[in-house]
Amino acid sequence: MTVAPARHFIGGEFRDSLSGQTFDVISPVTEQVVTTAARGDVDDVAAAVKAATDAFAAGDWSRAKPSFRRQVLMKAADLIDQRYPEINRLEALEMGHPIGAPVQGPSRSAWNLRFFAMEQELAGNHSFNRDDNLLTYTMCDPVGTFALISPWNAPFMLSTWKLGPAIAYGNSVVHKPSELSPLSIGVLGEIFAEAGLPAGAYNTVLGFGKEAGAPLVEHPDVIGVSFTGSPATARDIAARVAPQLKRTSFELGGKSAVFVFADADMPKCVATVAAGIFSNSGQLCIAGSRILVQRQVYDQFLEAFVAESKKWVVGDPMEASTRLGPVVSKAQYDKVMGYIELARTEGRVLSGGTRPPGMDTGYFVEPTIIVDAAPSARVCQEEIFGPVAVVVPFDSVEEGLAIANDSEYGLAGYIWTESQTTAHYVAARMQTGMIWVNCFFERDLRQPFGGVKHSGLGREGGGYSREFFTETRFVAFPTTPR
Ligand code: NAI
Ligand code: MG
Repeated sequence: MTVAPARHFIGGEFRDSLSGQTFDVISPVTEQVVTTAARGDVDDVAAAVKAATDAFAAGDWSRAKPSFRRQVLMKAADLIDQRYPEINRLEALEMGHPIGAPVQGPSRSAWNLRFFAMEQELAGNHSFNRDDNLLTYTMCDPVGTFALISPWNAPFMLSTWKLGPAIAYGNSVVHKPSELSPLSIGVLGEIFAEAGLPAGAYNTVLGFGKEAGAPLVEHPDVIGVSFTGSPATARDIAARVAPQLKRTSFELGGKSAVFVFADADMPKCVATVAAGIFSNSGQLCIAGSRILVQRQVYDQFLEAFVAESKKWVVGDPMEASTRLGPVVSKAQYDKVMGYIELARTEGRVLSGGTRPPGMDTGYFVEPTIIVDAAPSARVCQEEIFGPVAVVVPFDSVEEGLAIANDSEYGLAGYIWTESQTTAHYVAARMQTGMIWVNCFFERDLRQPFGGVKHSGLGREGGGYSREFFTETRFVAFPTTPR
C-alpha cells in the first residue's frame, strides 16, 4: 500500500510545513518507513491558530444556526461511515490496530459527531423563577479557538471525541494528533470540506509534542486545551498554560482494577476480561490491567484465562483474522518488554512474555499474564500500555477494595459478580471515574468520561463536554408579581 505524505490541514487546505521539514512514519509491522508527514513548528501553529481565530471572528460557523451545524456534522458522520474502510486501513498502517478487531466498532467515530450534532441543538438550558419574582436563564456560547491534543492509541476515534463537541458548539479548533499516528486524520480534512464546514473552523497541525504541541497550547489566541495522553505531558501542559489561566481537560490513562468474584458468570467473564486487556494490544486508557480474583476461583480463573489468551492470534493487522497487532513503536515495545523483564523478578510470567515464535520483525508482543507479584510491585502499580495482565488473588471484599484503591490512578473499574448487592457495594467504594459491571467499555455518550486521581482532571461527554467547550452565562430579570 503506497501512502501519500501526510500534510497539515489549515484554513481549509492541505499544506506542507513552512520550514519544508518532514518526519518519517514508521510501520510497527515492518519497522520500515511508510511515508513522511509534515513536521509542524511554531510557525505552522501560528498559521493554524490565525485561520481558526479568523474563522471564529467571521462567524460563518460560530454564529451559525444550530440546525445548520447539525446538518453539516450529520453529513460528516455519514462520510466517516462511508470512508471507514480507508480510515481503518490507515490506522492499521500507522499504529498497528487490527482491521478485523475494532475496539468500539466502526460507527463510534461517526456516533461522536452525530451525538454532539444533536446535543448542541436539542439540549435545554437552565431556567429558574426565584420566588416568582426573578426569572433567570442560562446561555451556552462558543468560546473561540481550542487546542486538541490527541494520542496514537485510537487516533481517529479519540480525535472525533474531542472535535465533535468542540466544533458542534461553534468553536474553532487546532488539532495536534500524535507524531505516531499522523495518517488517518488526513481523511477528516477532506470529509469536513465536503460536508460544508466553513474553512478555518477545523485545522490540523502535524508534528511532535515539544515542537508543535507546546507552542499550540501556549499560543495566546488559544483559549483552552483538551488533552489525552500521559500524566507527564499533562503536567507539562498545565504548567505552560497556567500564566494565561486557560481551561484544560485531561484524560490520562490508568491501571484499572477488575474484580472477579466467585459468583461471576465465568465463561462470559473470562472472554470479556481478556478483551479488556488484549484489545488494541492493551493500548487503551481504560484497559482492565489489574485483575483481582477471589481466592476460591483463582486457579479456575487462571486456567481459563490462559486458554482464552491463546485465542488472541498475533499477526499482521491488515489480515482480517488477526486479533492482536503489534504495539505502536520501538519505544513502546521496549517499555512493555522492560515491564515483562521486571515481572520475572517482581513476580512470575505465567504465560506469553516474548515475541511470538517466527515473528522476528515488528513490535509484536504475545498476550502476557503475570502472577505472584505483590500489589505494591511496579508491575501492579504502573501503566504498562501493552497486552500484559497482572492477576492478583484476594479473599474478602474489603481486602480486594484495599488493593484496588491502592493506586495513583483511578480511571475505570470493572466488577464481575451475579450479586447486585456486591456490585453496588463495590461500585460505591472504588475510587474511579467509571465503573462497568459485567461488561467492558459499553458507552452512553451522555455520561461523563474521565478519571479521578492521576487519571485525569475534568469530564467529557454529553453536558460535561458542553460545559467545557462553551461559555455558560445567565440573564436575570424581575417578573411581574402574581
Ligand atoms: P504523550 O503524552 O507524550 O503524547 C500524547 C500527545 O501529547 C501526543 O500528541 C504528543 O505529541 C503530545 N505532546 C507530547 N508532549 C507535549 C507537550 N509538551 N505539549 C503539548 N503536547 C505534547 O504520550 P506518549 O509518549 O505517546 O506515550 C507514553 C505513555 O503514555 C504510554 O506508554 C501510555 O502509558 C500513556 N498514554 C496514555 C494514553 C491514554 O489513552 N490515556 C494515550 C497515549 C499514551
Ligand atoms: Mg512522549
